Amino acid sequence: MGSGGREHALAWKLAQSPSLTRLYAAPGNPGIAEEATCVTLDVSDHAAVTGFCESHDIGLVVIGPEAPLVDGLADSLRAANIPAFGPSKAAAQLEGSKGFTKDLCERANIPTGAYIRTTSLDSATSALGKFSPPYVLKADGLAAGKGVVIAPTLEEAEAALSDMFGGQFGAAGAEVVIEAFLEGEEASFFALTDGTAIMPFGTAQDHKQVGEGDVGPNTGGMGAYSPAPVLTPELQARVIKEIIRPTVDAMRAEGMPYSGVLYAGLMLTKTGPQLIEYNCRFGDPECQVLMTRLQGDLVEIMLACAKGELADAHASFSNVAALTVVMAAKGYPGTPEKGGAIHLGQSEALQSEAMGGGAAKVFHAGTAVSDGQLVANGGRVLNVTAKGSSVTEAQRTAYNAVDAVDFASGFCRRDIGWKEVAREG
Ligand code: AMP
Ligand code: GLY
Repeated sequence: MGSGGREHALAWKLAQSPSLTRLYAAPGNPGIAEEATCVTLDVSDHAAVTGFCESHDIGLVVIGPEAPLVDGLADSLRAANIPAFGPSKAAAQLEGSKGFTKDLCERANIPTGAYIRTTSLDSATSALGKFSPPYVLKADGLAAGKGVVIAPTLEEAEAALSDMFGGQFGAAGAEVVIEAFLEGEEASFFALTDGTAIMPFGTAQDHKQVGEGDVGPNTGGMGAYSPAPVLTPELQARVIKEIIRPTVDAMRAEGMPYSGVLYAGLMLTKTGPQLIEYNCRFGDPECQVLMTRLQGDLVEIMLACAKGELADAHASFSNVAALTVVMAAKGYPGTPEKGGAIHLGQSEALQSEAMGGGAAKVFHAGTAVSDGQLVANGGRVLNVTAKGSSVTEAQRTAYNAVDAVDFASGFCRRDIGWKEVAREG
């Protein structure tokens, strides 16, 4: 289920599985259509989704985005005995409500910034006095990755709170979490869990801001690479012990066992890793680099996770570095230009199904076909993805391929991976 670059990467990997007989995608996109039969289903109509699965004898449903998970689609599928990869509505609160997650962290003693939950502009404004600048303000609910404001001054924090309680994020902003600013480098850690067993599932670093050098407004992510060497094996062990394990155990103990992928956004502070936020799905575009490195049968792994048999499953990641560059439509993250023509052409830099021989793979995000022409149909449009023996090499291959893409109304950051490239020297 889904239609972005994340789902294209998942479909591409699922399609490589020896245990796959047939793959459907709803709604999919032109890239996904190369891997799967695309069908139209209304994700909010759970009866229609389960009906389709029953009539097509579907053995596993992989739910890509957070909205249908927070809406309880996995529960509806499970109630119809259809295995689903993704958490229940109750467990998806880990992404669906920032306040829920902060309270859980407090109960389970998980390292995260100090916080206050507020439900009115008055209480929020007076709570600011308990924090120091920069102020971190978060709409409680889902806000398409845009619900976080970091305000450098008290005046800006007050103005942002007034916008949030004024309906800027709709119902998602009816409650606002104010939290302490954490200092350090950000990294993402992924784990699969069936509610009890935990399978580490890779690390990555994203580039949230639209501009080179990490400036400008936040986006859904302009590029990523994996692994994230800043998350050393020692730090990963701490993340599992201090953050992931207590979360999985608390969720199970409280009657909301978490099943699916748990994506921890972390701040690597001087005192150790702290949780910034959880997501209840793969990152986009982090998924594209994880799938590039994953070895093993994704259908088997996800099915084991869905069935509560993750302890018996195996996954490994190749040692190569993978890097993806997001090509977005001009205007993103504001109002993106729609309909711009894309020509992928015949360049050798792009002729790679397997991403070998110095060539890249293009995952489709917001694309469509109009009158036989591939066109932009969203903010983030293409994810040009490459691997290499280092981030530097993967970056070079990815940008060679970017240069071979003819997408006049598109743009990308030219510095994806810069922190790691600098460290690699
Ligand atoms: P989110 O949309 O929740 O991923 O948050 C957007 C970005 O805000 C994160 O990627 C961080 O860069 C930043 N952020 C969120 N919470 C904090 C925090 N407590 N301290 C510092 N930065 C934060
Ligand atoms: N790329 C960030 C996210 O998927 O949340």
